[in-house]
Amino acid sequence: MIGKLNHVAIVVPDLAAAAAIYRRTLGARVSEPLALPEHGVTTVFVELANTKIELLHPLGERSPIAKFLEANPSGGMHHLCYEVADILAARAQLVAAGARVLGDGEPRTGAHGKPVLFLHPKDFCGTLIEIEQV
Ligand code: CO
Repeated sequence: MIGKLNHVAIVVPDLAAAAAIYRRTLGARVSEPLALPEHGVTTVFVELANTKIELLHPLGERSPIAKFLEANPSGGMHHLCYEVADILAARAQLVAAGARVLGDGEPRTGAHGKPVLFLHPKDFCGTLIEIEQV
């Protein structure tokens, strides 16, 4: 069902410092910071040949990643995003297999303007999974 790895999201305490690590130390192509107030994050995109790394920092009072940063003050991997062709078909298959969809279970428009769902980390080897319809 899942296709390509769309991105790996890493929550960081200092976006400029993290961007510099990817740009200078690792020699990657790194975007300017992009504020996404409707998602409660500011993000920097790192473009790799086969996928993307998204560096995330909380934005606003009710950021969904604020607690994660509190628990992981030096930052850490937050989620993996896999591509699917049909998000509703994927959801049906996942729910039938016993997986838990987070939130109200309905797809939301993700950071790339495409429908996404998040899956409970306890059902996926301790890793928060995002699926995105591409
Ligand atoms: Co994501």
